[in-house]
Amino acid sequence: MSHIRGRFKKAAGKLVAEYTASSLFDWRLYRHDITGSIAHARMLARQGIISPQEAKIIAEGLKSIREEIEQGKFQFNPEMEDIHMSIEARLMEKVGEVGGKLHTARSRNDQVALDLRLFAREAASKAMAGIRELQHSLLSLAEANRAVVMPGYTHLQPAQPVLLAHHLLAYFEMLQRDVYRFSDCLKRTDVMPLGSGALAGVAYDVDREFLAKELSFSQVSQNSIDAVSDRDFVLEYESAASICMMHLSRLAEEIVLWSSAEFGFVEIDEAYATGSSIMPQKKNSDVAELARGKTGRVYGALMALLTAMKGLPLAYNRDLQEDKEGFFDTVDTLFSTLEVFAGMVKTLKVKEESMAQAVKQGYILATDLADYLVKKGEPFRSAHGIVANLVKYAVERGKSFSELSLAEYKKFSPLFKKDVFSITVESSLAARDNVGGTSPKQVERALARARKIVEALEDGR
Ligand code: ARG
Repeated sequence: MSHIRGRFKKAAGKLVAEYTASSLFDWRLYRHDITGSIAHARMLARQGIISPQEAKIIAEGLKSIREEIEQGKFQFNPEMEDIHMSIEARLMEKVGEVGGKLHTARSRNDQVALDLRLFAREAASKAMAGIRELQHSLLSLAEANRAVVMPGYTHLQPAQPVLLAHHLLAYFEMLQRDVYRFSDCLKRTDVMPLGSGALAGVAYDVDREFLAKELSFSQVSQNSIDAVSDRDFVLEYESAASICMMHLSRLAEEIVLWSSAEFGFVEIDEAYATGSSIMPQKKNSDVAELARGKTGRVYGALMALLTAMKGLPLAYNRDLQEDKEGFFDTVDTLFSTLEVFAGMVKTLKVKEESMAQAVKQGYILATDLADYLVKKGEPFRSAHGIVANLVKYAVERGKSFSELSLAEYKKFSPLFKKDVFSITVESSLAARDNVGGTSPKQVERALARARKIVEALEDGR
């Protein structure tokens, strides 16, 4: 700590040191910090700012620190403010004074911006891979149950029959857009900030392009003030993660509902269910419930950072240190949720019979009856009214549509003929045969397309 308190006579009090330190959580950037520092040292040597020998000593020192950390041998000194100071201090211990040359032409402000971008880049790739896995599970479940019919709902009321595969592919689509969001966010994360210094750039002849190449960035940042104070890329990740968690939470909600005794549409594999400490009969869908619950903390991280940043004057302010905990938590929550969902969805047992039973209830073919009348010349609006009266009549008598006689149908419209009885769940599905519809033909097409997407033969855009 002493070397960054140069102008101060007093040491920071314990409370202040603890309050301002980030080492408890930013140790997670150690790998990225070391990678960035090695590239920086190489660049300094190439530019003749330090000697090649010095760069080599520094790089070797940093690599051995990385090993120490990975083997659990590194003593994180709580007095060091953050991971950057901890590693630099250890480097000086190991290689002596020459270690002090590493921080030439650099500030912790551009250093932390770099570390976080390296971290975010990895996290975005991992998120995309995790989403792919879940898409895979959804697709496998859909393929294995391609002929299963279920009630489609609006307002959670049975609306029209759909194929279960069609319903599952709706989540596939949402997740595909999540992939695009992360891949888009990756483009703006892929910018190399070193060389920005504290805020104004650095007074050395640095080679920023070389650094970008060394660290596999496709661009260098174009404004030093922006580069040290921008955290948009974190916000974009957190927005993409929030939207993705919202999707997972909706799926979670359906799994909770569907596995209830009332629905009985699916059975969760025992490995993903829990029991009750008091009620022996219970099989609870805690995994799905927790995913739904954890969505809140991911939204929270996004709100917290948006709020932390809204009043910050340029350039770096210490408030920015608050970017990390929420970000790390978001990354961990998203990964673990995606991972556990991939397994849970893959092992879901579909109860085809209960779904078929549910389709028979609730006058689910009412729209098809109206469409029938339309085909016979009735305007849709009045056809809708005729069928509404028919439903009322049937409800009052406790009959389903198929239990009504042709004479009863004819009371509501002379257009009803014997062929009204050929309206079935199958005909209802088959009729919805346009792109994006639930006809078996369209769903087969959609399944094939989804297969190509997960196998990376098609982008889906
Ligand atoms: N721990 C700091 C952070 O996370 C690193 C940058 C510190 N820079 C500074 N000027 N105090 O933001």
